[in-house]
Amino acid sequence: MKDTPQRTQLDVDWQTWLARWDVQQSGYLPDREARFDAMFDVLDYLMPEQWTALDLASGPGCISQRLLARYPNARCIAIDYDPLLLAIGQGAMGDVGGRLRWFEADLAAVDLVDMLGEGKIDAVLSTTALHWLPGASLWRVFAQLGKVVRPGGVFLNGDNMDFANHLPTFQKMTKARYEQQQTESFKKNGIEDWEQWWKAVKQVPGLEALAAEREARFGHRKSEENRPNYDTHKVMLQNAGFSEVDTIWQHRDNRILLGVR
Ligand SMILES: C[S@@+](CC[C@H](N)C(=O)[O-])C[C@H]1O[C@@H](n2cnc3c(N)ncnc32)[C@H](O)[C@@H]1O
Repeated sequence: MKDTPQRTQLDVDWQTWLARWDVQQSGYLPDREARFDAMFDVLDYLMPEQWTALDLASGPGCISQRLLARYPNARCIAIDYDPLLLAIGQGAMGDVGGRLRWFEADLAAVDLVDMLGEGKIDAVLSTTALHWLPGASLWRVFAQLGKVVRPGGVFLNGDNMDFANHLPTFQKMTKARYEQQQTESFKKNGIEDWEQWWKAVKQVPGLEALAAEREARFGHRKSEENRPNYDTHKVMLQNAGFSEVDTIWQHRDNRILLGVR
């Protein structure tokens, strides 16, 4: 397993960019912190004294940061494919006294079992990320999670998971409410949105090369339009060997799906 390169010697105010990331993300998800806390409620109950977590599609490591602060005996591995977000996380947090490792890998291509080893991970957490993966990649990633998570360990996925097509009223109401909430966040409250944040960070002196690399990796990708819905998420996890799978927290289509291995 090869750790991601250190790019943090650049003279960038990493803390400020991490804080701006959190604000931008909370514009889309006003209950983002409540969702992190609900994930940790599960870990409070199920994790042993010392344990290892995987922050999947970590971005700048928002889960890792909160998790390592809350659990002083835990270790965390953060994986993402965006070199710029990883640099912000590494710059702002470093390795948290050797408890945090950063990996740069494309989840659509990496073999997590080779990378991490079977049964080595106690808890996998992911937020607002896996909807970026096409369905076929998600099936593959979940199958790998079934192998890297030890029996009794957990997978916690916090993301918007669409209601199924036989629930059109649920779908329409969720979409309408989401649009209304975004207008409130970005127009009324003046929170920086995704495009504005990226435009600003790409102009930071020293970050041009990382921004170009990100563009090369992600420019052609977009959030999946035909993404697997909630029911499919459940089936994928059951198929991967998670014996208990269900929603443990929910606000409309924004859920935490918990799988117990
Ligand atoms: C909206 S961000 C969420 C980041 C973080 N989990 C959070 O909640 O703030 C989505 C993340 O998914 C990552 N991502 C998308 N596709 C990926 C892939 N194929 N491999 C690894 N990471 C990926 C992006 O780079 C980005 O960091």
